[in-house]
Amino acid sequence: PLTRAEVLALPKVELHLHIEGTLEPELILRLAERNGIRLPYADLDDLRARYEFTDLQSFLNLYYANMAVLQTAEDFADLTRAYLARAQQAGVRHAEVFLDPQAHTVRGVALATCVSGVADVLEQSEAEFGMTSALIVTFLRDRPAAEALAVLTELIEMEAPIEGIGLDSAEVGHPPVDFEEVFALARAHGLECVAHAGEEGPPEYVWQALTLLQVARVDHGIRSLEDDALVSHLVERQIALTVCPFSNVRLRVVDTLADHPLPAMLARGLAVTVNSDDPAYFGGYLDDNFQALVTTFGLGATELATLSRNAVLAAFLTEEQREPLL
Ligand code: ADE
Ligand code: ZN
Repeated sequence: PLTRAEVLALPKVELHLHIEGTLEPELILRLAERNGIRLPYADLDDLRARYEFTDLQSFLNLYYANMAVLQTAEDFADLTRAYLARAQQAGVRHAEVFLDPQAHTVRGVALATCVSGVADVLEQSEAEFGMTSALIVTFLRDRPAAEALAVLTELIEMEAPIEGIGLDSAEVGHPPVDFEEVFALARAHGLECVAHAGEEGPPEYVWQALTLLQVARVDHGIRSLEDDALVSHLVERQIALTVCPFSNVRLRVVDTLADHPLPAMLARGLAVTVNSDDPAYFGGYLDDNFQALVTTFGLGATELATLSRNAVLAAFLTEEQREPLL
């Protein structure tokens, strides 16, 4: 098996990372103090004891509650800087970062505050952390599509520096079809499109993301394996799936890492990529996810190279930016 040093040295591309999911417990307490916010936690240990999840919703409850500490552009900037520093250590060379604007605007934080707080730091990622980056705004599918449409319209009007849009939050009962108009508007403005689908939701949601939202990549997508025609479609077109091993274990999508279908997905020829999703909540960053795959499945240099290459090919990069990563 590969050594830790070899895993770290592997040039990595991260395509499924929620910036709010990099909010570490220590930073939560520091920002709460800075902003004079009272949290319902006695101390760090009390907060840490709550990182035990039974499904996606149980995680989302804590994830959204902890965002209360994110108030100013400086808070979003500090959060983003902390992620980039950690990603650099992990060997990340390019990151496409998700931001959930509605999780902040519904609490009274201005759209420009959260977007510029993150975007201004990402703009410096190459100079400060030696990695390129892009911002993807994700819409909350468990909120009305009309609200997503209003936020997207505002982002377009303010000429926000975004590469694309995505769709996340509670999946079951919130099918992609509800967001057709939002994605059509994004495409009309030249924005790239991705969507979470087939994490807890059925293969039908993956089909909808592909055919109705016309996404370039599917976030998670692991339930695609239940539909052979869908697998063939994804393989033939080499549509990337941004798989998140630690997330799937911690949100009980799979029982243990050893039960994860990633090796089976690779064997079937799916364009699998490895990602960390919400690393502050799920037990590790991108290097840790790769390391665990190496340890659990004995993945070797060839498999890791395939996973990395899949991510480079699926990234929203110009050919000039892509070339040195291949
Ligand atoms: N928001 C943050 N992480 C998510 C996930 N894994 N699935 C859906 N929504 C999310
Ligand atoms: Zn996600």
